[in-house]
Amino acid sequence: ISQESQNILTAYDWLTKLYHHLLRYTRDGKEGYQYLIERGINDHAIDEFQLGFATTAKSFTAEFLKKKGFNQALLVKEGLLSLQNDNSVTDRFRGRIIFPIRNHLGKTVAFGGRLLADGGPKYLNSPESELFQKGKILYNFDLAKKHIRKENEVILFEGYMDVIAAYQAGIKNVVATLGTALTETQAKLLKRYVDTVVVCYDGDKAGLEATYKAVRLLQSVGCQVKIANLKEGLDPDSYIKLNGGEAFQNKVLDTSETYLSFYMRYLKKDYNLHVEGDRIDYIEKVIREISTVNSLVEREYYLKDLHNEFNISMESLTEEVEIQRRRYK
Ligand code: UTP
Ligand code: MN
Ligand code: MN
Ligand code: MN
Ligand code: MN
Repeated sequence: ISQESQNILTAYDWLTKLYHHLLRYTRDGKEGYQYLIERGINDHAIDEFQLGFATTAKSFTAEFLKKKGFNQALLVKEGLLSLQNDNSVTDRFRGRIIFPIRNHLGKTVAFGGRLLADGGPKYLNSPESELFQKGKILYNFDLAKKHIRKENEVILFEGYMDVIAAYQAGIKNVVATLGTALTETQAKLLKRYVDTVVVCYDGDKAGLEATYKAVRLLQSVGCQVKIANLKEGLDPDSYIKLNGGEAFQNKVLDTSETYLSFYMRYLKKDYNLHVEGDRIDYIEKVIREISTVNSLVEREYYLKDLHNEFNISMESLTEEVEIQRRRYK
């Protein structure tokens, strides 16, 4: 690690402490603190995740870091500060809740900043750098690691707030992609620690599409997957706020679907099953997928679903699967 990177880590460390202190103990940070309390986040979680607040001041952190002797040009280059058109250097985050993004060693390498009110992009993240590549980091991996190992299972969310809400509810083997697109690097990282990944993305269209992609990617690196679904319009954090952590555990996580159940449901959205052509297409696709399952018991389980739903004999379905399996051997 270069001297410059070391300096950046030190600057991030100072800012993490500064933002957290502002939120927790000062009048300037009060609106940030109130915002989190209203969202149901308690002091313990605020401290554990080192949540902070960036005031609306123009160059508060710029001055702070300057006094500490940091090279401003470097801080601008690495995205900790912003350069304005008139060449003045200002704070990057203003009027936002600060979520420190930690690397696997627990060091802050970036921030996510959330606006308190609507208007403007909801989240602003630090730019990518040598220390921070979005596709290589999983939010909260450092704290979750030991719990992931213990449970031999990890729950994968979309966002910061989902992780924090679950953690606060006592569910600690939780990480998040920062947004929705899981990368192969992240999938392989998880595979090194667990057999099973529970994908629990937001209950909206984007979340559903992202779930499918994440699931395929996780399978391709050898993970078992389960899919925890949320009703339309809810995400894990809003679900927990509304129904509590226990309900989240019992009704969402414990009722996770297998890949095939999810796939059948996912596929249906593209078809009108009242139309014969669509129906046949759908059935063929599902059979192809079932054929890839190695357990006979499992195959039969899903074939029964098809049998019941479409009134096709088990004999024909089984035969079709056998044909497919011979073909792909
Ligand atoms: P969501 O929009 O689902 O955010 O994006 P959220 O965490 O539920 O936000 P709240 O509850 O409204 O505060 C999921 C994640 O995608 C990233 C963030 O990491 C966020 O947590 N994201 C989202 C961005 O980086 N930029 C955005 O503009 C939006
Ligand atoms: Mn603290
Ligand atoms: Mn979302
Ligand atoms: Mn969300
Ligand atoms: Mn949310």
